[in-house]
Order: sequence, then C-alpha cells, then structure tokens
Amino acid sequence: MRNICVVGSGHVGLVTGACLAELGNKVICMDDDFRKIEGLKKGIMPFYEPGLEEMVYRNVNNGRLSFTTGIKESVKQAEIVFICVGTPQRQSGEADLASVEAVSQRIAKTMDNSKIIVEKSTVPVKTGSWIKRTIKLNNTHNVDFDVVSNPEFMREGTAIHDFMNPDRIVIGVESERTANIMTELYKPLNAPIIMTNIETAELIKHASNSFLALKISYINAIANICEKVGADVIKVAEGMGFDKRIGREFLNAGVGYGGFCLAKDVSAFIKIAEDVGYDFELLRVVQKINDFQRRQIVKKLREALWNLSGKSIGILGLSFKPNTDDVREAPSIDIIKQLQAEGANIKVYDPRAMNKTKEFLQNVAYCQNPYQVAEGSDALVIITEWDEFKNLDLSKVKQLLRQPVIIDGRNIFHPTEMKALGFTYQGIGR
Ligand code: UGA
Repeated sequence: MRNICVVGSGHVGLVTGACLAELGNKVICMDDDFRKIEGLKKGIMPFYEPGLEEMVYRNVNNGRLSFTTGIKESVKQAEIVFICVGTPQRQSGEADLASVEAVSQRIAKTMDNSKIIVEKSTVPVKTGSWIKRTIKLNNTHNVDFDVVSNPEFMREGTAIHDFMNPDRIVIGVESERTANIMTELYKPLNAPIIMTNIETAELIKHASNSFLALKISYINAIANICEKVGADVIKVAEGMGFDKRIGREFLNAGVGYGGFCLAKDVSAFIKIAEDVGYDFELLRVVQKINDFQRRQIVKKLREALWNLSGKSIGILGLSFKPNTDDVREAPSIDIIKQLQAEGANIKVYDPRAMNKTKEFLQNVAYCQNPYQVAEGSDALVIITEWDEFKNLDLSKVKQLLRQPVIIDGRNIFHPTEMKALGFTYQGIGR
C-alpha cells in the first residue's frame, strides 16, 4: 500500500486515482476546481466513463479514495505524486505546459519529505527535465525527489479496463530505488514493464498516439480508393489485419479520428519535430487525410440530395466515439458546422453527449431519440457508432424520413441489406 496524491482530476487523473485505490493504495485526488471536487465528494462524476462511478463510490466508502482542493495537505501525506493536469493545445499546435509548471512549483514548495513525482499528463519530450529543474528551483525544504515519466495509454470509454489491463507499462526513471517502487506499484497489473530514461518514455507516448492516428488515416485513404474501384474496405482491413505484423485494430474506416488526444498529439509531435529541425511530413499528411474524411460526408450528402440549403439533416451521434460524453475535437461538430454553412437545418441525437455539445453548436434541434431525428429529415448521417444505432428499427426509420437517405460514417450497416430495404445508402469505402 502506497500513499498517493493525484494532482488534476480530469479523465486521466480521476481514472488513475480510482484505479490505484482499487489496487489497494490510499489515494487523494486533488483539483483546483471547487465545483468538481464538491461534486466528486457527493458521488457526482464530472464526465461519463463506464464503471467509474461505481469504482469511485466503492473506494470512497472503504476509505482508500478521497478528494480535496488543497494541494498542501495532499502532497504532504503522499509518497508518490502524479501530475495529471491538462495540457491544452496552443494555436501553433504545441502543448501549453503552464499548468504543469505551476503545479510543479506548488508541489516543490509544499513537500517536506522525499517524493516521487510522476508525470502522467501527455507532455512533449523534455518536460520531465523541465519539471525536475522547476522542482529543484522551488524545493523550499530541500528534500530528495525523483521525477518519473509514466505515460498513460487508456482510451476514453474503456479507460478503467485499459488501466487495469494494459498492454505495457512505460516507466521513464533515473534511480533504481524509484524504479523498484514504480514496479511494485504496478505489479498487480501483471503487464510487461518497459523501463527507460525519461525522454524515451515521453517519446513512446507521442510515437504511439501518432501511429494510431496514422493507422486510421491509412485505412481511410484505402477506403477512398475502395469506393473508386468497387472494393470493400472492411474486407481489406480484415485481410490486412490477420497479418500479425499489421493487426486488425484501428483499421476502421470512417469520418476520421476525433477526441482530445489523437488530434492534439499529432499536432504536438509535428511541432516537437519542427523544433528539433525535422519536418514530420508524414504526420502532416495524416492530418490532411483526417480533414478530408470529414468533408467527404458533406460531399456524399450533396450527391444524394443535390443542394443542402433548406434541407433537413438528421445527425446520429455527437461524441467523438461511443461510451463517452466527450465532444472535444469531435468530427460531429465540424461536420455540422460545414452543413450549417451550406444552409442545412440540423437535428441531432446522442445518448450521452447532447449537453456537452451545447457550448459548441448553435441553431441545432436536440431530439429525444433517433426516430425523432429521422422524422421529416431529408437524410440521416451516422457519426458515432453507439450500440443503440446498430439496433434501430430501420423500416420505421424509412417511414419517418422524408427521403430514404442514410450516410453511414461508421459502417454500422451493410450496403446490400440497406439497398434491399430501399435506402439510398452510402457507407465509407464500400
Ligand atoms: C487515444 C489512444 O487510443 C489511447 O491509447 C491514449 O491513451 C489516449 O488517446 C490519450 O492519449 O489519452 P482516445 O482518444 O480515448 O484514446 O480514443 P481512441 O479509441 O483512440 O479513438 C480516437 C478516435 O479515433 C475516435 O474518434 C475513434 O472513433 C477514431 N477511430 C479509432 C477510428 O476512426 N478508427 C479506428 O479504427 C479507431
């Protein structure tokens, strides 16, 4: 059992804190956002993540998990301090590390016995050494400390499962003692541990996220060729995926990747490369293909409906992926804005993300279910592959639509079956 403090109770911080408590540690999650912490104390989660609420509840009740806005008391008690604060994107594409610096200063001024400070936020390479410098500079009580880079690979929507069942654990560390403590902390997860220096650990995270984005853009590029030559991208992905060197995962063609991580990390990696004098052209093309995929949806609608001005378009799915209410960098927002710019009227439904969308979109009709969206619409567009949409009563949908047009941005339906039902149906790459 270790005493742990997690600074920053966002997606990564809160899931990390809850899971480390679940593993038997005593964890205090800290955040400056008073409302968030007050909510958490009452059992209200700041975002939706399957299984999180139950896990938080369980560990609060057994006394292993608590929440605070006070950094002093939480850092003082802890042996290991995780930094999980946000690193938003600047206009230039690089990560904004002001919060990481501010938190490092606060930790340094507070700590009065030896600490392990772990960076878990996604940060550019070299951040670890900046954290070290900052802490040294503000180390009021002159205590021993070690900085560790321990990037997180959890996905939203499956974050708890990913934390508890990682493919690998990456630990960038400088001392053997700290390496042993970190190894022991993660021992219950039974995963391979990659022990490296701090810079290598930081780069593994960038290289991994950018590679995932690359895989998605690659299959989307293939999908565009499939459409021209009459091939089926799902079968192509299957055929490729059986090759162990390639793997089937992250080869789902669609509207492109969204979310706060992949888009931000690709931009940040391009900037990091640029700063060290390397033009990461490959990743710039990855971005270009991703933007193109979003525009393809609008083009397909134009092909099916002619002019979009005055047409009513129903959108199913707003979150950037299923099982989350997160709409940051979601393809839906971009696509809806493009459609509105062409004069289309928009109706939307999402099982979880409608509230969070309200701050990004205007003049959109929010519906209570997919059928309400279909009613009187000239076309239906599927942007997020929620299970609820896979089980739709399609005859009912057809009756409700003004024109039986479905653009399936996630390939949840089969083209032949949809055509047999009388739909004008377009998937991606089939
Ligand atoms: C991503 C990584 O997968 C995690 O390993 C990483 O920890 C996380 O970023 C992070 O850096 O915090 P996440 O953004 O939660 O996780 O979600 P993903 O499952 O990676 O999906 C990202 C986007 O790619 C979604 O919009 C999804 O719909 C899209 N996608 C994914 C595809 O279009 N096709 C695919 O085959 C897979």
